[in-house]
Amino acid sequence: MTKSISIAVIVGSLRRESFTRRVAVAAIAHAPEAMQCRFVEIGDLPHYNQDLDGKPPAEWERFRSEIKKSEAVLFFTPEYNRSFPGHLKNAIDIASRPGGSNLWDGMPAGVVSVTPYSSGGMAANHALRQTFIYLNMPAMQQPEAYLSNAGDLVDAEGKVLNEKTGEILTGYMGAFVKWVGTIRGNV
Ligand code: FNR
Repeated sequence: MTKSISIAVIVGSLRRESFTRRVAVAAIAHAPEAMQCRFVEIGDLPHYNQDLDGKPPAEWERFRSEIKKSEAVLFFTPEYNRSFPGHLKNAIDIASRPGGSNLWDGMPAGVVSVTPYSSGGMAANHALRQTFIYLNMPAMQQPEAYLSNAGDLVDAEGKVLNEKTGEILTGYMGAFVKWVGTIRGNV
């Protein structure tokens, strides 16, 4: 049996009516029991500034401690100008610093990109994955998750609107927990 795994869920959209957050809510609802998913919020994080490394803002400390207690991370990101949003990069930078304290080091990660349009947000998905190389984060390669037409997939409460979406999310979350267990040696 798979041991329970603590997963930080980070949503790269800050807006109230976010499709990306709705998809994240739906994905969690389709996750196997072993996945202990927890939203880790990034909207309040002051911009990363190396000058503050000696006296970090409380919001950075809160974020870092939430990442520290996570065994894996799942990013749900929208696409902004063919990349991922700046506030998500800010959060990633904050937990990677100060030098020598990269909290992402070795942490298994998954990426789901979401767009209300037809492109699947692949550019955002891949741009985010690019940061994993320097941060030394193993990323699940398959299945990939590029979710298009988000408004047709989930409702405002994060309930899936059709069976196919439920199947995709169930498949993705099931594969993720299995893969995290393999990477961390928990299975
Ligand atoms: C966008 N949007 C967008 N969509 C896309 O598929 N590819 C893109 O490159 C962009 N670029 C972009 C830039 C900026 C600054 C904004 C604000 C938006 C549209 C985007 O997919 C749409 O606003 C989504 O609704 C954003 O995700 P949430 O907030 O609904 O989760």
